[in-house]
Amino acid sequence: MEIKNVMVVGAGQMGAGIAQVCAQAGYQVLLHDIKEAAVEKGLAVIQKNLTRQVEKERMTEDDKNMILANVIKSTTITDAENADIIIEAVVEKVEVKTAIFTELDRYAPAHAILASNTSSLPITEIAAATKRPDRVIGMHFMNPVPVMKLVEIIRGLATTEEVFSVIEMMTKKLKKVPVAVNDFPGFISNRVLMPMINEAVYALYEGVASKEAIDEVMKLGMNHPMGPLTLADFIGLDTCLFIMETLHDGFGDDKYRPCPLLRKYVKAGWLGKKTGRGFYTYE
Ligand code: CAA
Repeated sequence: MEIKNVMVVGAGQMGAGIAQVCAQAGYQVLLHDIKEAAVEKGLAVIQKNLTRQVEKERMTEDDKNMILANVIKSTTITDAENADIIIEAVVEKVEVKTAIFTELDRYAPAHAILASNTSSLPITEIAAATKRPDRVIGMHFMNPVPVMKLVEIIRGLATTEEVFSVIEMMTKKLKKVPVAVNDFPGFISNRVLMPMINEAVYALYEGVASKEAIDEVMKLGMNHPMGPLTLADFIGLDTCLFIMETLHDGFGDDKYRPCPLLRKYVKAGWLGKKTGRGFYTYE
């Protein structure tokens, strides 16, 4: 099966990044969101990223315009009828994702693959909302998408080998590295990353060290590019809490209990960089 037309549903930070790397790889991309303003915002992010590449002389103005010409705006879900693959990157709520998958299943051609960029929700449950669970798969990109090499590829219970290999090949075409993971809460990335972040929040909560000290230990001692509390702000504290809750519920194991301080920050609306305040404050 050959993939030419990609639809990305959700034009937020992740959706825009996914649309950008797909357009750069030469795919025709429909960037979809419910509101035109959201699509425009996603496009502006792509434009800004590409302009930076031109300024750094990594691509020409012509390259940039060619890539931008590959991205078409969409606010109508029936546009799915033109896609060979649809990558969903909407809010991490299983009821929202299943509703979107049911709708996409209605409009997408029979051969189309439906992929989810979910960071921790069960692919098998999302697939069950469609009549083609064999053509549903997880394609979990990392943030910032244009920079990070990894894509976790998650097979649902019914995903076929054919679909898996198409996605594996597409990931390589995006100049990313596919890693196969089975369908369990948090997959591998967030099963390992989030408990580390949560533990860093516990260390802060218990007064073991200051936020700066905790981050410095992990940066200088473990060579992490960002300390765990800075990274949590970057990911979004609401997302971190949601993933910890998914692990906690999914495994029923108290070792995944979210730190009360993380809950308190989320309740306060201190969600990290996106709201200007999390563990740190941002301009
Ligand atoms: N979009 C596009 N490009 C970006 C970017 C963004 N949002 N942020 C940074 N970059 C690019 C910069 O343009 C720069 O490019 P060049 O090297 O080509 O010039 C490069 O990334 C490095 O950026 P900076 O020099 O500004 O800053 P840095 O060296 O500190 O790197 C970083 C920034 C890449 C984000 C780095 O700090 C890092 O790797 N942090 C960890 C990121 C991480 O762990 N991501 C995974 C989060 S978890 C997740 O995504 C899964 C989930 O489900 C929650």
